[in-house]
Amino acid sequence: NVGHVKNVCFVGAGFVGGPTAAVIAYHNPQIQVTVVDLNEERISAWNSSHLPIHEDGLLKVVRIARDGTLDTIFSLPGFADCIHLKARQPNLMFSTAVVEAISISDIIFICVNTPTKTQGLGSGAMADISAIEGATRSIAKHARPGAIIVEKSTVSCGTARMIQEILEYHRPETSFEILSNPEFLAEGTAVQDLMHPDRILIGSAQTTPGLRAASTLQEVYAAWVPRDRIVTVNTFSSELSKLVANAMLAQRISSINSISAICEGVGHGADIGDVSLATGKDKRLGAKFLQAGVGFGGSCFEKDIRNLAYLAATLHLDVVVSDLNGSLRGKKISVLGFAFKDGTNDTRNSIAVHIIKDLANEMPREIAIFDPGCSPTQLDRVKICGSWRGAAQASSAVCVLTPWKQFRGCRAAVLVKSLNKEPDVSATVFKFVGKDLPEMDILELETIVRRSASESEDPLGRLKPLPSHLGDVVDWAEVAETMQEPRWVFDGRNVVDISELQTLGFRVKGIGKGF
Ligand code: UGA
Repeated sequence: NVGHVKNVCFVGAGFVGGPTAAVIAYHNPQIQVTVVDLNEERISAWNSSHLPIHEDGLLKVVRIARDGTLDTIFSLPGFADCIHLKARQPNLMFSTAVVEAISISDIIFICVNTPTKTQGLGSGAMADISAIEGATRSIAKHARPGAIIVEKSTVSCGTARMIQEILEYHRPETSFEILSNPEFLAEGTAVQDLMHPDRILIGSAQTTPGLRAASTLQEVYAAWVPRDRIVTVNTFSSELSKLVANAMLAQRISSINSISAICEGVGHGADIGDVSLATGKDKRLGAKFLQAGVGFGGSCFEKDIRNLAYLAATLHLDVVVSDLNGSLRGKKISVLGFAFKDGTNDTRNSIAVHIIKDLANEMPREIAIFDPGCSPTQLDRVKICGSWRGAAQASSAVCVLTPWKQFRGCRAAVLVKSLNKEPDVSATVFKFVGKDLPEMDILELETIVRRSASESEDPLGRLKPLPSHLGDVVDWAEVAETMQEPRWVFDGRNVVDISELQTLGFRVKGIGKGF
């Protein structure tokens, strides 16, 4: 696939464009990589042995790709893989000839600056994307048809779509694919991060040409990045993930910094170093980014947090009530789940309690609750049902509030129920599927059933008891028949299969699923 990529260019020779281009060129000697920038001084620095940015190992990588030379052997830690290189054809160029580079490129990376806006709407929060607009206009004028445009600068959600609109406006006769491919390198460790990335993120339109463009870019990275580290998602998720990664990293630093103030206050030898070490040993937390200090700096964290906060503030986030035309009067709402998490009957501080209270304030006709773990006596003031059937019957909306597995499975459960009528087969099924039945992929389950049935083992000999929760597995097809319009499912735990429920005629909202 990468075979047809001969030329790529990077628009913007800064902290991201320069090092990324160098590493891509280094690992793809068959691709001609050009980095363009209007700033002549910066370009001549990239063409010298005094690069405009200082990063460990960068000059060596640049010299190999730019000059095709290798002066001595590599001795930098982490660069053992470079030692056996031979001299090669140069394939990295730095130039001010923006138009020429754009016009021959198969892939064009936009790596220009996106500082925080300092004036006007969104000042101090929104990213200033004027440099991206400028680059996009040049690309619209000069890119060859079929060129893939890659947004690498950190941007707000929707910038790829804006790039698309600019291109359509200036070049209505040509369609371009825009990919989001944010960079996660940190300054000071740029080359190491690029050589051994935790992940490469590629966002594309989920259309045939969009996915094809994503796979072309994927091939460029696959020259050195293991496939399982290349994550492909849709464009919006990709744009958002970059902001979120930085926001979460910054949040960790701020958290550990406030704990360090507590250490100082507590005295008696309390030491933030010990606290970081002990906390970071928890695999769920991890040891990195727990170094306390006077605060985080740099050009990314603050900018991206402001950007994300602005995005959140400008969204109009819907709730259950607004989806039911602003009123719950006369309506029945069913609630699946009451415990604070699945696998327990503990309802202390369950978020479901608060949600049910809020729903009750809207004066619905009835709120009916079912939880496979809680006995009905633990709940009061609302109707408690012994089964999901009773809870869902005649309701306008189902809210899933605890992630019980049995709220997810329908096809698997339905299949098993129908197999139940054939005793031999059902015995085999239970032997194989055990307690995780609703988690199983339906195709996998079907294959197992067929194979074991045809092998005619003695299923009764190793029969397992019927999983106790099987009777609680929700059959959404049945729910669809008994519910009332508009048949909303608000899945507060992302347990249901949205597309399957939509096929059954439900309107579905999951947590964090934008449509
Ligand atoms: C950050 C992210 O780490 C990169 O993944 C991201 O690609 C980049 O922003 C970007 O968006 O361009 P960077 O700002 O270059 O990278 O440097 P960091 O190593 O993240 O350090 C940022 C600040 O946090 C520094 O002031 C550093 O001293 C501080 N820090 C970091 C701490 O105070 N404690 C820590 O444990 C880690």
